[in-house]
Amino acid sequence: MSFRIQPTAPARPNRCQLFGPGSRTALFSKMAGSAADVINLDLEDSVAPDDKDQARANIIQAIGDIDWGNKHLSVRINGLDTPYWYRDVVDLLEQASDRLDQIMIPKVGCAGDLYAVDALVTAIETAKGRSKPIAFEVIIESAAGIAHVEEIAAASPRLQAMSLGAADFAASMGMQTTGIGGTQENYYMQRGDRQFWSDPWHWAQAAIVAACRTHGVLPVDGPFGDFSDDEGFRAQARRSATLGMVGKWAIHPKQIALANEVFTPSDEAVAEAREILAAMDQAKANGEGATVYKGRLVDIASIKQAEVIVAQSQLIGG
Ligand code: COA
Ligand code: MG
Repeated sequence: MSFRIQPTAPARPNRCQLFGPGSRTALFSKMAGSAADVINLDLEDSVAPDDKDQARANIIQAIGDIDWGNKHLSVRINGLDTPYWYRDVVDLLEQASDRLDQIMIPKVGCAGDLYAVDALVTAIETAKGRSKPIAFEVIIESAAGIAHVEEIAAASPRLQAMSLGAADFAASMGMQTTGIGGTQENYYMQRGDRQFWSDPWHWAQAAIVAACRTHGVLPVDGPFGDFSDDEGFRAQARRSATLGMVGKWAIHPKQIALANEVFTPSDEAVAEAREILAAMDQAKANGEGATVYKGRLVDIASIKQAEVIVAQSQLIGG
């Protein structure tokens, strides 16, 4: 228990974050016209080292030139272990228009990583008189990142969202898989001659959700590499939503509708949540803290659970 109130995460839809390499300018207007809530223009691992300077220039121009509608516009910078990241921050903050909402910092390993970027961003914002503070999002994708996940979630008031990056995470942890997200065929339980595949990302996801919910940050599931496998994507996204995550990345446009479908509470789920709230209103009127709904217990905790679903649906509807 704690007497401290759990802060709420930013009130904006974050069901799907669509990625595209900063070196592929032909994709930018398609991304802007998509149904993703968040756009991530990439300077990091989808851009080859020789293309970094050009990709940076492309992105800075596109931020000002393209009509991004009401999308949350984010740029993924290079990691703090590279020679590129400071130039990413300096050029973006000095040259990009105020349309830029957020930068994504990959491979964070400790709170000090955010402190360093925050110091640089704050100095440039002040020097250039930028009136709109840039928000941050981070990727947890290393052993150090997950080991320090709570201090990272608390590290900067700019921080709005935190994603799990399955591929780099797996490599850093020494996991024996080359898959990007989803179930892995060697991670299973056996009963008789039947195999049941488990979820190797479960613990990392739950740790991220707990850190995010403690500090008012949006927890997001990262990429699912096999964009030919719709059912695999759906199943992974449903597990993430069940654990408390609010959205998932799309690394191909066909994944956008899948993410929006899973992370928009269904009409049935919202109707049931409203019925639970009504049942609890009736219970309260009768002086009871618990009652029966469709043959199962609902009590005062059920009000908070139902309110999560109704609030998420109102946020997306609004
Ligand atoms: N955003 C918007 N549109 C995209 C897109 C994206 N990320 N990726 C592909 N498209 C478009 C293509 O231009 C094509 O459009 P068209 O029908 O008008 O010709 C259509 O979607 C189908 O594309 P497809 O041919 O299936 O894909 P591709 O071979 O061009 O590209 C990838 C496949 C995976 C290389 C590409 O989707 C990509 O670069 N994804 C993002 C990678 C990334 O940013 N990774 C970093 C985060 S993990
Ligand atoms: Mg990565």
